[in-house]
Amino acid sequence: MEIVIASKNLGKIREMQEILGNRVNLLSLSYLSLDIEVVEDGESYRENAEKKALSVSALTKKPALADDSGIEIEALDWAPGVLSARFGGDINYKKKNQMILELLSGLPVEKRKARYVCAVCLAYPNGRIETAEGIVEGIIAEEPKGKGGFGYDPIFYYPPMNRTFGELSPEEKNRISHRAKALCKIKRFLI
Ligand code: IMP
Repeated sequence: MEIVIASKNLGKIREMQEILGNRVNLLSLSYLSLDIEVVEDGESYRENAEKKALSVSALTKKPALADDSGIEIEALDWAPGVLSARFGGDINYKKKNQMILELLSGLPVEKRKARYVCAVCLAYPNGRIETAEGIVEGIIAEEPKGKGGFGYDPIFYYPPMNRTFGELSPEEKNRISHRAKALCKIKRFLI
């Protein structure tokens, strides 16, 4: 089954393909030689995911899958949330992670609560949509650890596994992540 994936983030595309398995073939926008920019101006993950999936499905006339996700940190009033990709401006994730560690510097573990949230939307060319959400709770670590995953993973410590997401193997992350939880709910509409 072919589904267009409305994302340019290679880390996310790789994870989504692994979670969905080989019965679903995710076609990237670059594979289809398409370069569309959907402005993520929604106030919620759900709104952004639905907007992206509907636009790409209408354009390609194929089912399209989109996700919108972010990290929410209690000590920052649950920011950056939907603005996670833009946090700190146009700087790399090593610097974004460093900024967060500095903002939380000196805070004890009970004040370092964080969560990843993800909304996934599957849209069909006739306008039908299925949307699901997933959340995973953790703690902002004292220092970055691990080279796995992407984005904020080196500073997102996951107590049940006693490691940061950056230290998990792809299989381990894809069993428990916010994206995996949301995608598993969507998977039953596909297979
Ligand atoms: P968007 O969904 O592409 O708008 O951006 C989501 C942003 O949230 C990513 O660019 C990362 O900054 C962050 N994010 C979401 N999910 C993850 C994850 O699994 N690991 C690390 N960072 C994530």
